[in-house]
Amino acid sequence: MAKLVINEEKTKGTIAPEIYGHFSEHLGRCIYEGMYVGEHSDIPNVNGMRTDVVEALKEIKIPVLRWPGGCFADEYHWKDGIGPKETRKKMINTHWGGVVEDNSFGTHEYFELCRQLGCKTYVNGNLGSGTVREMSEWAEYMTFNGVSPMADLRKANGHEEPWTVDYFGVGNENWGCGGNMRPSYYADEYRRYQTYVRNYDPKKPIQKICCGANVDDYAWTRGVLETAFDHTPPEFHGFMDGLSLHYYVHPEGWEIKGSATEFDEEVWYKTLKKALYMDTLIERHGNIMDEFDPEKKIAMIVDEWGCWFTVEPGTNPGFLYQQNTMRDALVAGITLNIFNKHCDRVKMANLAQIVNVLQSVILTEGASMVKTPTYHVFHMYRDHQGAELLESTLTGVGETGTGEWQVPEVTESVSRDADGVITVTLNNLSVSDKKDIDICFAAGEGERSVREASILTGEMKQHNTFAEPDCVTERAFEGYRVSGDKVCVTLPPCSVVRLRIEQ
Ligand code: AHR
Repeated sequence: MAKLVINEEKTKGTIAPEIYGHFSEHLGRCIYEGMYVGEHSDIPNVNGMRTDVVEALKEIKIPVLRWPGGCFADEYHWKDGIGPKETRKKMINTHWGGVVEDNSFGTHEYFELCRQLGCKTYVNGNLGSGTVREMSEWAEYMTFNGVSPMADLRKANGHEEPWTVDYFGVGNENWGCGGNMRPSYYADEYRRYQTYVRNYDPKKPIQKICCGANVDDYAWTRGVLETAFDHTPPEFHGFMDGLSLHYYVHPEGWEIKGSATEFDEEVWYKTLKKALYMDTLIERHGNIMDEFDPEKKIAMIVDEWGCWFTVEPGTNPGFLYQQNTMRDALVAGITLNIFNKHCDRVKMANLAQIVNVLQSVILTEGASMVKTPTYHVFHMYRDHQGAELLESTLTGVGETGTGEWQVPEVTESVSRDADGVITVTLNNLSVSDKKDIDICFAAGEGERSVREASILTGEMKQHNTFAEPDCVTERAFEGYRVSGDKVCVTLPPCSVVRLRIEQ
């Protein structure tokens, strides 16, 4: 019999709410149409932000939103996106789809969106093609509360008070689209640029994020840290609060990628196996970070992750629009369990991307909106945010899969919130077999009860469409039985299950 043993005596750190963060880029229909429709749209909106999307994102307790890119960030000149909309520059989004970018969504609109969402802010600066002065002035424009050219400009543009920038990315993918730099060159640039991202309000210091590696480029991690720490007196070590990591799951590799909705069992397991690789990446990059930062003061920030498939037939290849099935739900469930278990080092993660791009939680078409299977996983996992990770051990769980693509039958993570309620999230990775698991407590003793339980399940390719928006949705879960201090659960194949257990 498979068992999940939870040790309530062993807490392993706090799960940063920001692990459940999101990413929005000026790419395809993410910002424009997806979140921002403008004040004059027929689609219900508040100050241009879609009400349906804002409300849905509040339901999953969105903790933080990264903007404006991605690759777009290193081509973005923030002054193009302020002031009267009619005079803002129109230009071509050369990186994504060659469409007109009218800059109607800029700095003020981003902070308005985050205000409506009630989430933290993560602004990504332009190191690749922008100047030190430009980056410095953006920080001044956003956060300075005194008399200065940029603070005065912000006020002239209608915003008296400064905003709070919680996180600031000093470039994006500078090993690639952000300037094709070598690690030591980028790290020197990082040192210089971040110097001028001033902390104007010592009570709200900006957390500065350094560009980290792509996938398994361990040489980048080591090279950046070596240069960053070289000739750096200890009092300056706060100059790097986070180091990023990007990892996308492409079932058939970067060139081919593979369809979002048409796949067989072999590709199902291949995709999940690739999602599980996130654990190895965190472990190995984390080991290198430990050499430089044994106290784990620098956070690992996985600010781009998710499935990247071939675009939906008939859509602009530069828009990266893809459907989202039960397979995406399992990738999300597996990955979020991995992040929870690494909460000592991983302090933020941002799914790419929030609406209409890659592994989105929401798809829109005109005035219609669909919540994807991935959305429901984020909803089911929301109680992990800010909770204490508990030690949990699975026994009697084997592997499942086809050929070389073997994966564990089940993955899980367990946390306890401030009210003492325990959240258990379980994934059954098998497409065909159910799995019985007894959830036990190391301390034993005492009746347990299940306060809430829900499930997301379906056939592996099942997804939601505008015609059938609730084909895959979170439902009440009844496949459990409480027996004294044990909770006996039957996980249906291809499922994500959440239990909230109390004593
Ligand atoms: O999310 C799409 C793109 O993927 C981002 O712009 C870039 O940072 C990454 O390569």
